[in-house]
Amino acid sequence: MKSSPLALVVLALALASRLNPPAEAAEIYQDAAQPVENRVEDLLSRLTLEEKIAVIHADSKFTTAAIPHLGIPRRWLDDGPHGVREDIGPDTWNSAGRTDDFSTAMPAGICLAATWNPDLGFREGEAIGQEARARGKDIMLGPGVNILRTPLCGRNFEYLGEDPWLSGVMCTGYIRGEQSQDISSCVKHFALNNQEFERGTINVEVDERALREIYLPAFQAAVQQGGVWSVMGAYNQLRGQHCCENDYLLNKILKEEWGFKGLVMSDWDGAHDTRECALNGLDLEMGTEKKYEDYYLSQPYLKLLKAGELPVAGLDEKVRRNLRVMFATHVFDAGRKTGSLNTAAHQAVARRVAEEGIVLLKNDNGTLPLDVAKLKTIAVIGENATRLHAHGGDSSGIKAFYEINPLAGIVSRVGKNVNVIYSEGYAKDGSADLAERAVAAAKAADVVIYLGGLNHDKGFDCEGADRKDMKLPYGQDGLIHKIVAANPKTIVVLEGTMVEMDAWLGKVPALLQAWYPGMEGGNALAGVLFGDVNPSGKLPATFPKRLADSPAHALGDAPGNYPGTNGTVTYAEGLLVGYRWYDTKHIEPQFPFGFGLSYTTFEYANLKLIPGDDTNALVTAQFEIKNAGNRAGAEVAQLYIHEQNPALPRPEKELKGFKKVFLQPGETRTVSIPLNRSAFSYYDPARKSWVAQPDEFEIEAGGSSGDIRLHDQFTLAGK
Ligand code: BGC
Repeated sequence: MKSSPLALVVLALALASRLNPPAEAAEIYQDAAQPVENRVEDLLSRLTLEEKIAVIHADSKFTTAAIPHLGIPRRWLDDGPHGVREDIGPDTWNSAGRTDDFSTAMPAGICLAATWNPDLGFREGEAIGQEARARGKDIMLGPGVNILRTPLCGRNFEYLGEDPWLSGVMCTGYIRGEQSQDISSCVKHFALNNQEFERGTINVEVDERALREIYLPAFQAAVQQGGVWSVMGAYNQLRGQHCCENDYLLNKILKEEWGFKGLVMSDWDGAHDTRECALNGLDLEMGTEKKYEDYYLSQPYLKLLKAGELPVAGLDEKVRRNLRVMFATHVFDAGRKTGSLNTAAHQAVARRVAEEGIVLLKNDNGTLPLDVAKLKTIAVIGENATRLHAHGGDSSGIKAFYEINPLAGIVSRVGKNVNVIYSEGYAKDGSADLAERAVAAAKAADVVIYLGGLNHDKGFDCEGADRKDMKLPYGQDGLIHKIVAANPKTIVVLEGTMVEMDAWLGKVPALLQAWYPGMEGGNALAGVLFGDVNPSGKLPATFPKRLADSPAHALGDAPGNYPGTNGTVTYAEGLLVGYRWYDTKHIEPQFPFGFGLSYTTFEYANLKLIPGDDTNALVTAQFEIKNAGNRAGAEVAQLYIHEQNPALPRPEKELKGFKKVFLQPGETRTVSIPLNRSAFSYYDPARKSWVAQPDEFEIEAGGSSGDIRLHDQFTLAGK
């Protein structure tokens, strides 16, 4: 018998509904309308023991296994934090050789911190999140927020400087931006990864106050303000236990005290023991050094679970946390953001971060900005003028879509009417004396722009090792002397992190700190040099005159002090990290924390302390800033507190707020910085809590930790 047309339609509809079940037939975990916790429990209940194990360890360098019958896709992780790293491997750490994995290379973290602009942090995070989605990633391994304790740490360039408040605010913006794109950020390295020397084994001994007040706040901000979904444990140990399986850090502080609901992953090969991983808060084991089934959280864990030696509830908790991050980033949902790669908008963010992050440290007699119309010949000297940095530094390196080096930026900015000559000046291997040619170039020019500093070679600003000293390498101190002697109008531009500069600083009229300014760095730098951009960056870390002045080194060979003795480093300076040290000990730095010049000047006036209450701000510091010059510019107003009669010793100054204000010439703006009770508190180890005791506080506002313009007394009453 023939089927009627109607019967055929009914049959077709029935078939279609089996292939595409209507929304209400979806499982709970597939239903985006369900509360996340219901979805987590539903999916968890469908996993076998073996499948649960598959969720909590790597199945390649940057992935975890798919579980196809439940629609759990392979999860892709990637570095972080300056953009989306190129694809690696599959069997080595070398490039996979793809041609579709170029991406936008943002300036290094320390440059982002130097902008003191949390909105820019958000925009950078958002752009990287979009690129990560376009590259099919799920979790991005950044930002890095370890505090700059010693100038020598090989990864200082990746991090956000020496101050817990600044690092916390900047990473919050970044994380919110990145996670708005259906990507999980992964703040790292939790905690105390403040040196690369012996990073895999070194045991950190730090007192509880320094831990709480200096080394943890940025992580806490990432969790509680940024809402970060993933945290990476550090390689090193804290008080004798590795950080990736450290009960105190992971279970007690991160999860219990701070209420973190996301996942903790290990740094690559940072796990060391099955039981400790199982019990002490690690939720995802990553690494490479051995077969993936031999990972502590793979077969060894499964064995102990099956033998009843470890509770399955512990495994379930780890899986829950992994699934929660998947749901938070909409892994199972239609309409997950698909991102975009190498867009003009992302390149504009990279440029803006560089423009706002470059710091003008010296500018005698208005040497800068340069007036192109008045120049015939510019000598650009120094190897960093042509060096590309974006790919360097190890795991944070980016295969940049393009990279404008300083020379290219300068040449393109000055156009055809100015003659630009270039001389390398110093050779990396010291093989040729290039100084003579550089001196000749300097003599032939109206102005010299010297591009030196550090680079990402091992032993400088690079993961896996620390610097040996804080000096300029390749004989640059002597070279700068010769160049200035040949042409006093020498502008020094340093890339990299801080170096000693006492040997020549008095001789040069102008100095810029350009860090690693990313793929648009050359354009940004040229903008600053020629006045299209008015510099507004401020130092996120103190530049000491000499290494021996800095807290981790001033205590000399005190047992355990940097870089450690017999595998232990003791943070003998305690709370006095960065400007907290220099100010308290009255040691004059080369440039103080928060310092940076502008092509205009700012006046501060009328500080008022407006009382509030505990529900809002206890007090709001309000003051006026005026752009007193004739160029538009931005000032980073900083607010510090000083407690008069502390029960326990406190540093001379502590940053508790800041605001970047953009002002037209002559414009005045009122700045308000709220201070809540926690701004006045210190950590009391005896009470195991933060305490704001009734006392007199000095509230100080100014342009750097060394330039307080306004101050007033505030009396903190008891509750
Ligand atoms: C680094 C991490 C990085 C990981 C993956 C480790 O060596 O410490 O920061 O995310 O490698 O590349």
